[in-house]
This record gives sequence, C-alpha cells and structure tokens, in this order.
Amino acid sequence: MTTIETNPNQSLEEYANDPERITEYSVWNEDVTSLIHAVEDNADAIFTWGYDKGERAPLDRLYEKAKTSQWNGQTDLDWSIEVDPYTMLLPANPMEADYFKENPASPLHKFSDKEWKELAVESLNWSLSQFMHGEQGALLCTAKIVETVPWIDAKYYASTQVVDEARHVEVFAQYLDQKMGGINYPVNHHLKALLDDIIKDSRWDITYLGMQIMVEGLALAAFGFMHQTTEEPLLKKLLRYVMSDEARHVAFGVLSLQEVYKDMDAKEIRERQEFTFEAALRMRDRFLRQEMWEKLGVDVKEMVKYQLEMPEELKVFQRLLFSKIVPNCKKLGLLDAGDGWLRDRFTEIGVIEFEDWVDTGSEYEDFDLDKSLEEKDQEVREAAHEVFHKEDA
Ligand SMILES: [Fe+2]
Ligand SMILES: [Fe+2]
Repeated sequence: MTTIETNPNQSLEEYANDPERITEYSVWNEDVTSLIHAVEDNADAIFTWGYDKGERAPLDRLYEKAKTSQWNGQTDLDWSIEVDPYTMLLPANPMEADYFKENPASPLHKFSDKEWKELAVESLNWSLSQFMHGEQGALLCTAKIVETVPWIDAKYYASTQVVDEARHVEVFAQYLDQKMGGINYPVNHHLKALLDDIIKDSRWDITYLGMQIMVEGLALAAFGFMHQTTEEPLLKKLLRYVMSDEARHVAFGVLSLQEVYKDMDAKEIRERQEFTFEAALRMRDRFLRQEMWEKLGVDVKEMVKYQLEMPEELKVFQRLLFSKIVPNCKKLGLLDAGDGWLRDRFTEIGVIEFEDWVDTGSEYEDFDLDKSLEEKDQEVREAAHEVFHKEDA
C-alpha cells in the first residue's frame, strides 16, 4: 500500500486537494474487456488441530446465528417487481445537489434536465456495480480467512460468511442485469487497489482489518443510507437482507481482532493504525465516481478536484460512511493506542464525532430479519441532520 507522505507544513485538507494527488485520484479503470484479474496471495494456509468448538464463545454464537439466518436470493426476493430506474432514489441532500447544479464553477453547470436524469441512473448503476465488485472482494477475502485464521471457531464462522458473500454478489448482479439494464461499470480503480492490497498482505489479521472492519463497515453504513433513501420495494428488501448478513460480518471482525490487538506491541499497532487510515482515504476517494464521469464525457480531473473542494458542511454522506468504522476502531483500541495517531487523523478528516456511536460487536442482533429497520433508518436521518446542522452552530 502506498504510504501517505504529507508535508509537515501542509494540513490534511491541503494534502487532500494537492494537485498531484488529484492527478492520482482522477485515475479511472479503463480495463473493461478482461474477464479475470489475478492477485498474488502471500499468506500461509493454516491447519489447526484444536477442534474444541465454542472455545471462543462469541464467535461460536455468531456461527450458530449464521446457520439459522440464511436466505435465498431466488425465492425470498420478488423478481417479478417492475423497476423504473428513473424514479428510484430520493435526493439525499438538496444542498449538495445545488453545489453541482447551481454553481457556475461546477463542471456540470450546463447540464440539461435530460442529462441530470441520465446522471441519476448512471450514478445508481455505478454505485450498485461497485457494491457488487466489493461483494466479490468480500467473497475472496473471507475464503482467505477460512485458510489463514488459526482458530477453529473462526474458520467455522468464516465458512458461513463465504456463502453469504456468494449470495450478495449473486443478487446485486441479478438486480443490475434484470432491472438496471446491465452492469455498466468495471471495478473502481481505487477500490480494486485496496482489495488487491488486502489479498496480497501476508498478515492474517490485515484481511480482517481491511475487509471486515473497513470495507464492510463502510458498506453497512452505505447500504443503510441507500435503504433509507429508496422506496423501490425490491431494492429495499434486497438491501435489508444483505444488511442483516453484513452486521454479522462486521461483528466477526470486531470480535476476532479484539483478542489479537490486545496483545500486540506498540510498533505493530502503529502499523495497523496507518493501514486503517490509508484504507479510509482510499475508500473516501473511491466514491468520486471516476468511471462514471469518463463515461458521461465530463473531464475527470476537473470533476474530482471540484468534488474534493466541496465545503465540509455539505459532505454529509461522505462522513456518514464512517459511522460504523470509527466506533469499531475505538472498540479495538486502535483509535487511542500509542500517541492517539489515528484519533488525530480521524479528527482531521472530520469523522471523529462518530466515536461514541454504537459499535458493531453486538449490534447485529438489531438487524435480525424479523425486526423493523425503521429505528435504524430514523437514526440515519437524525445523524445526517445533525452532521449537516452542526456546521451552522
Ligand atoms: Fe456482503
Ligand atoms: Fe459481508
């Protein structure tokens, strides 16, 4: 993974908008024709001869829970529902929309109504395509955990997550194919780079940290946001089902890494803090939708720059994406270990406010399929409102 080299005289905000960095982050994935992508996996496959089921009780409970929480994407979702991609998402933040529409400096300023409608559909297709590619990343990473984790309870649990992830790739691919006119986008360049780094790393805890804590923590927040902003019944139910699984997956990361990180020395913990922050920046930048701008004929570099320069108070969605990651990092001790390096970084990118939100170690019970998500939806709405209005205070 590339190391962040900031000039000591440069604030993180300046760094984020550094012209060189904008060049780097305006890269998009042009490889739309190849069918496979190979990544070298440098980790050992580990057998364990310790077969005591339940030695790690929280992981055992999660495994038993997973066995009774399975669903079938073909029979539990009603694929006969007709979907009109042009009427699917409610505008999440009108101020943010205005920033792109009304500002003469915006590269989209001259867009016609028709172009805005196309953009909304492409944006949804791009987002769902990236969710699907990320789900395949989770499938591969969790299969890797089955091999590399030395504990039997974790191997058992991870095997159920592999099945979950296969189902997630399957339902997102089917939704795109049948309801959105096809998969229009290859994996985002920056998401791919992050997934490659996670797979290549030889340290088994890094797979968990990169996938279960960072990628899936962000996905759980992003799915929650989309669940709350769409009224399309098939997508809403699909997301509802996926979220009930994802909450277990993030819990798996928290419950496993708690044990590992409490015994690590300061140097090793600092390496994990840096990995976490680099992954956080990559994930923030993967939402810049480079592939979509390229497809729509908008200058990618200009558009990336314009998005990065958006006033902080409008970045409600971008900040909410960290609402699961920050409390989970706190629970793992990563936020304050050493000199609190990670706390300082999360403060600089404006997401530290989530530190006391509920962590995902036990939250998965709230996502059971027989429970209503209305309360969670309401939490997302209130949080968005709070983040948005905090800046006015
Ligand atoms: Fe998933
Ligand atoms: Fe997952």
